[in-house]
Amino acid sequence: MRQVYINGSYLPESEARVSVFDRGFLFADGVYEVTLVLDGKLVDFAGHMARLRRSLSELEMPFSLTEEDLLKIHRELVRQNDVCEGLVYLQVTRGAADRDFMFPAQDTPNTVVLFTQKKALVDNPLAIRGQHVVTVEDLRWRRCDIKTVQLLYPSMAKMQAKSRGADDAWFVREGYVTEGSSNNAYIVTSDGTIVTRDLSIDILHGITRAAVVECASDLQLRVEERPFTVHEARCAVEAFSTSASGLVNPVVRIDDAPIGAGLPGLVTQRLRQIYLDRSRASAV
Ligand code: PDD
Repeated sequence: MRQVYINGSYLPESEARVSVFDRGFLFADGVYEVTLVLDGKLVDFAGHMARLRRSLSELEMPFSLTEEDLLKIHRELVRQNDVCEGLVYLQVTRGAADRDFMFPAQDTPNTVVLFTQKKALVDNPLAIRGQHVVTVEDLRWRRCDIKTVQLLYPSMAKMQAKSRGADDAWFVREGYVTEGSSNNAYIVTSDGTIVTRDLSIDILHGITRAAVVECASDLQLRVEERPFTVHEARCAVEAFSTSASGLVNPVVRIDDAPIGAGLPGLVTQRLRQIYLDRSRASAV
C-alpha cells in the first residue's frame, strides 16, 4: 500500500482523511503541482515550487511551508514508496471551514496532501506511436495560468477525445490553439520553426515548456512564442505536447488531418531525448 503525506504525517493511503468541509472539495479552492521523478530524483523541483508560490499568491491563499520543507517531504515520499520513475502530486487547499463563498479567516490551516504514482514515463508507447488529438472549444475559466484543482472541463475534454477514438484534446479559443487538456501544445512549421503559444492567462506556464524552449535554443532551433491557428497546426510538419507526465510527446494527427508523414517527427524525437538527458543531469 502507498504511503501518502497529509498535514504533517506520513500514513498508509487508507488511513489518510480530509474533512467534508475542505474548500478543495466544496469550491475547488486549491492548487496543485505534479513533479516528474527520474532515477528517484525530482525534475525541475525549483520551477514547480516557484509556480506553486505564484498560484497561491494569485489566489491570496496563505501557506507557511517553505521550499525546503516541501523538498524534504517530496524526497521522503519518494523514498518510502521506492519510486524510481513516476510522479509526485502535491495539493494545497485553503483548508476546512463551514461552507461560505467568502474565504475563511487567514489562520485557517491549509490541507496539504502529497502522494506518488509509480509509472513508466520514459518508455511510453505513445511516444513511439504518436498521439491523435482532437480539437475542443476552450471553455475553461479565464485564469488558466493558475494551477487550480478545478479540472472538470479538462476531464470532460479527455472523455470527449476518448469517445472520438483519440488520445487527447487540444483546446481552441477563437480559432487559435491554447494548449492541450493537460499539456502545452507546439507545432513545427515547414521552415523548422517551433511555434507555441506565448505566456498569458490563457495557458498554464508549463515547467516542461520552459525547459524545452531552452533545449530548443541550445540546439539552435528557432522558437516563436505566439498563438497558432488550427489550420496552421493541421498544415504543420510536426506537432507535439509537453508536460511533467508526458515529457515531450509527439502528435501525429489533429482531428482528421495527419501531421507531416503521420509519424513522430525528427525535431520532436530530438527534443524528447535532449529534454530527458538534461532532466536526468539536473534532477535533485
Ligand atoms: N498537467 N497545461 C495544462 C493545462 C496542464 O494541466 C499541464 C500539466 C501543463 C504542463 O505543465 P508542466 O510542464 O509544468 O507539467 C500545461 C499536469 C501534468 C497534470 O495535471 O497532471
